[in-house]
Amino acid sequence: MPIIAPSLLASNFLRLEDECKMLNESNADWFHLDVMDGMFVPNISFGLPVIAQLRKATTKVFDVHLMIEQPERYAEDFKKAGADRLTVHYEACRHLHRNVQQIKALGMKAGVALNPATPVDLLSDLLQDIDLVLIMSVNPGFGGQQFIPHTFQKIRNLRRMIHDRGLDTLIEIDGGVTVENSTSLSKAGADVLVAGTTVFHSSDPKATIHTLKNCN
Ligand code: DX5
Ligand code: ZN
Repeated sequence: MPIIAPSLLASNFLRLEDECKMLNESNADWFHLDVMDGMFVPNISFGLPVIAQLRKATTKVFDVHLMIEQPERYAEDFKKAGADRLTVHYEACRHLHRNVQQIKALGMKAGVALNPATPVDLLSDLLQDIDLVLIMSVNPGFGGQQFIPHTFQKIRNLRRMIHDRGLDTLIEIDGGVTVENSTSLSKAGADVLVAGTTVFHSSDPKATIHTLKNCN
């Protein structure tokens, strides 16, 4: 069964406590928290104080996706705010290996995110050092976008790389995940499915999470 990580970007920010309660009662495994700086991506979402408050409302895993330039400046702050896992973008890091070491030294699981145009092969010399690869299946910055079909090829290629090296790196898919494509994503090799719009804009978010969880 896939790990389900609802993205709170699509939640009702006026009622975050209720959204947490709903997720706590659901089959959701992780809280996916999208942080944007208006520089790496053309949008600004929420940051440290919001995450620190959310931390009081759940014991579930905080999967923080940093869409910010030079994320090493804030890794320690996100740990203090309650992040369990920290994912940084390949395209936003000048010294990615150092950033990964920093995240792990702080006691968090380290992830690397790839934009749609970034090939999975570029992780060839880092794969053994990271816990997760996040494949963006839309261009980062906004929820509610259309899934990019070429993502399937990237998942299959990455799955093969991980298998050939005998690693247990997780593959996370982020963007345009729906009830309809979740089964194929899982079958292609995705371990973690992020879903924002699909969960929070559905008439019954808990039932939708349940469906995603049991998609294969
Ligand atoms: C986009 C974010 C996603 C976003 C996904 O930059 O990384 O996590 O919330 O939203 P949906 O599921 O609506 O495509
Ligand atoms: Zn995300």
